[in-house]
Amino acid sequence: MRAVWFEDRIVKLIDQRKLPLHFEIFEASTPEDVAFAIKEMVVRGAPAIGITAAYGMAQGWLQRRNMDEVFEILKNTRPTAHDLFYALNFMREGISRGGDAVKLAEEYAESIIEKCRKIGENGEKLIKDGYRILTHCNAGALAVGDWGTATAPIRMAYRNGKKIFVWVDETRPRLQGARLTAWEMQQEGIEHAIIADNAAGYFMRKGGVDMVIVGADRIASNGDVANKIGTYEKAVVAHENGIPFYVAAPISTFDFSLSSGDDIPIEERSEDEVLFCRECRIAPHGSRARNPAFDVTPAKYITGIITEIGVFKPSEVEKLKKL
Ligand code: MRU
Repeated sequence: MRAVWFEDRIVKLIDQRKLPLHFEIFEASTPEDVAFAIKEMVVRGAPAIGITAAYGMAQGWLQRRNMDEVFEILKNTRPTAHDLFYALNFMREGISRGGDAVKLAEEYAESIIEKCRKIGENGEKLIKDGYRILTHCNAGALAVGDWGTATAPIRMAYRNGKKIFVWVDETRPRLQGARLTAWEMQQEGIEHAIIADNAAGYFMRKGGVDMVIVGADRIASNGDVANKIGTYEKAVVAHENGIPFYVAAPISTFDFSLSSGDDIPIEERSEDEVLFCRECRIAPHGSRARNPAFDVTPAKYITGIITEIGVFKPSEVEKLKKL
């Protein structure tokens, strides 16, 4: 499954705001539309944001737009996911070398999807038959294409005949777990249960969770990981209960320019995402809310980072820079 593709000069996206109740395709005809789709989370998930931005650059190039302007429009959408900046720089460099922007964007999308397949191969070895795996947010096909990142080892284990079970954190406030990961698990036929975000500790302490696998939005040189808000809590509770905590991400998510997670910009979204559920206000009128979209999990809580080139300890991230 592809969450985003380029057809007849239009960037087409599965509208992830509408899933799982409605399956609709959003069509972006200009780089401004593409920027809107990223900002408003028609598309979301770090690698998918990167692929969408690459197509946005290709579209701007076909429309003979000022490419510096297109770059800026797409860059100023969401601040945390490193893949966005990685993809934009890949496109800008390729275009400046005289490359065909459409071919470059397709090449970028294909390469990220292939990297996720390799993440699946590398991560699958960590999953034993009978494992119950907890995941947070959606780091699945909707966030990348085909395999996903955190879901790649899960899908691979399932396809290899291992009996597995997935705990799906609902992931307030935008419910990427309950709406999107559960939908993907259902499509694939993987046994799963959705749990309220605050139930994860309960199941971990009861011995119901064998490992945690999450995705990442940005990984700093010291192995600190920014991911969906709530990831930090899961990592601390997993550590407390001796449960391995893995992060799955392609190298495009690593930001080697940052020495620690403290330097990762954290997006704060509208308080309405907390105060309302769909169109329904759930909080008293007059109450305010805060809505950080991501948090940073310190490296010390992370057992390993599953990438397309192998599984690494967070302390080994620095050496990946040289590769
Ligand atoms: O706000 P979102 O839905 O874009 O956040 C997505 C996440 O935090 C994912 O876990 C992360 O991007 C990894 S996606 C392969």
